[in-house]
Amino acid sequence: MIRLQNRTIGFLARSIFEVTHSRTTGRRFISLVLAFGVITTMFTLGNTVVVENAAVASRSMLASEAGVAAMRAGGNAVDAAVTTAFVLAVTYPSAGNLGGGGFAVIRTPEGDVFTNDHRERAPNNATEDMFLDEAGEYVAERALRSHLSSGVPGSVAGLLALHERFGVLPREAVIARAIELARDGFELPADIARQFVSHHERFKHIDSTRRVFYKADGSFYQAGELFKQPDLAATLSRVSEKGRDGFYTGETAELIVAEMARGGGLISKKDLADYEPAWREPIHGRYRGFDVHSMPPPSSGGVLIVHLLNMLEPFDLSELGFHTAPSMHLMIESERRAYADRAVHLGDPDFYPVPLDTLLSKRYALRRIEDIGARATTSDDVEAGAVPREPFETTHFSVIDADGMAVAFTTTINGGYGSGIVVEGAGFLLNNEMDDFSAKPGTPNMFGLIGGEANAIEPGKRMLSSMTPTIVSKGNDFILITGSPGGSTIITTTLQVIVNVIDHGFDMEDAVNAPRFHHQWRPNSVRFEAGIKQKVIDELDAMGHVNLYRLPEQAVIGDANSILKYRGSITATSDGRNNGGAVGF
Ligand code: GLY
Repeated sequence: MIRLQNRTIGFLARSIFEVTHSRTTGRRFISLVLAFGVITTMFTLGNTVVVENAAVASRSMLASEAGVAAMRAGGNAVDAAVTTAFVLAVTYPSAGNLGGGGFAVIRTPEGDVFTNDHRERAPNNATEDMFLDEAGEYVAERALRSHLSSGVPGSVAGLLALHERFGVLPREAVIARAIELARDGFELPADIARQFVSHHERFKHIDSTRRVFYKADGSFYQAGELFKQPDLAATLSRVSEKGRDGFYTGETAELIVAEMARGGGLISKKDLADYEPAWREPIHGRYRGFDVHSMPPPSSGGVLIVHLLNMLEPFDLSELGFHTAPSMHLMIESERRAYADRAVHLGDPDFYPVPLDTLLSKRYALRRIEDIGARATTSDDVEAGAVPREPFETTHFSVIDADGMAVAFTTTINGGYGSGIVVEGAGFLLNNEMDDFSAKPGTPNMFGLIGGEANAIEPGKRMLSSMTPTIVSKGNDFILITGSPGGSTIITTTLQVIVNVIDHGFDMEDAVNAPRFHHQWRPNSVRFEAGIKQKVIDELDAMGHVNLYRLPEQAVIGDANSILKYRGSITATSDGRNNGGAVGF
């Protein structure tokens, strides 16, 4: 049995609280790693700002700037989050969206926490076996690349609901910048221009999509050229003028339904008119004296984060050390158990009785770690590890305002560029979120995740998600806002950011940019970013862990645009793996 901590949580929390904020700890790590030459050019893109009042960290500098401008204009963190999300739908089309769904966790300066679920729902005509062929086999192309792959979009309803409940700026103000950028265009960043090229094989056959992402003569946009989206600007203008009626009824709804008719999709006018976001009770846990608030089902993210932290709390990760084989072994073993629970117990709580009390209890976590020893356990069904095919699906951003109101926001159209199908005339991409349902029990989805009855397709049901927008706090003195894209790796990325700060004492920048690893029960493999030392991987191998894959340098796990407020100083970091932006004042 690995040694358990013998210090009291209270003492530990105090000591960790001090260690957490020694910048030197993190710096020393990075210098050490640099001395070994392990991190080379891997994480050089994002940026960090240290400010006093307010900040946004997102995957797009234009979106972060727009969010901060909203706060400078008198808006609060929710105005900023809604502004950022609408701009991401324009400037980061692979994941920012109007045609998808997402989750937001909001913490008020008084410490009250709210969550908004605007996850897509299965259309009313969806059936349990809609992605199976006559032989009963799962047809990935249908689940991922067809008009059937789209759930009823929730993003616009969610953003408007958030704004109505908490925003102080007029609706037009939080959509204006997105309209401007879509109508007048923006200089296309090199990474997004490259994405358009790499998706060409997929997009070239879809007229409505080709017209948006390629020039009128069919050639590629070059980096730095002006990229305009007039149809998207018109859709955003309808939302700005009419609110949810600008999307869920009237012209936009008609365009969506016409698109469905063209491609054999299921979303009807009634599905759109009936769509409602849900305000849900946040998941709450305690880790070493810190409050952890995250997203409840239909996300698996919040439950798994708290379950994982509960399993890890009895171990002294700090003393075991950062990226040592013993500390990584404990994290992998905890992940093995948490993802096994995910496959069986989690689904849309409106349709399936999720055993939340048990999954979140410390007693259950202790039972789950009873058989963790010095050697690896197995995941029964050992398979080859899979590298995620669409590493940049989904996007996460974090916001904090001058009063300490915080928003953790993750949004998605599932795979990069969703189904790849732009709604003709409306200028936005539809999601392929239906693949997040368990199409056939035991058959892995795009992320290698499996599920069963709890996450089977049913009309009106929300598909299980891994999105984990999370706020960790200790009063108003310590507020960590984090989350990530990355399908099944979202949860382990978020976990590592939290553990890096609380257990290993890293500052925000180092906690985000430190190399990551991932395990998800099945397939029974562990993936490591290239920055993790081969020596540690060899030690894990010797402990009995199998199928250990070191990813190539360009393959990264997650994009955790995060913010840490501590004792009045705000550090916002856009993940160095990607070309985002952190902005503040
Ligand atoms: N589509 C990724 C997720 O929601 O987990």
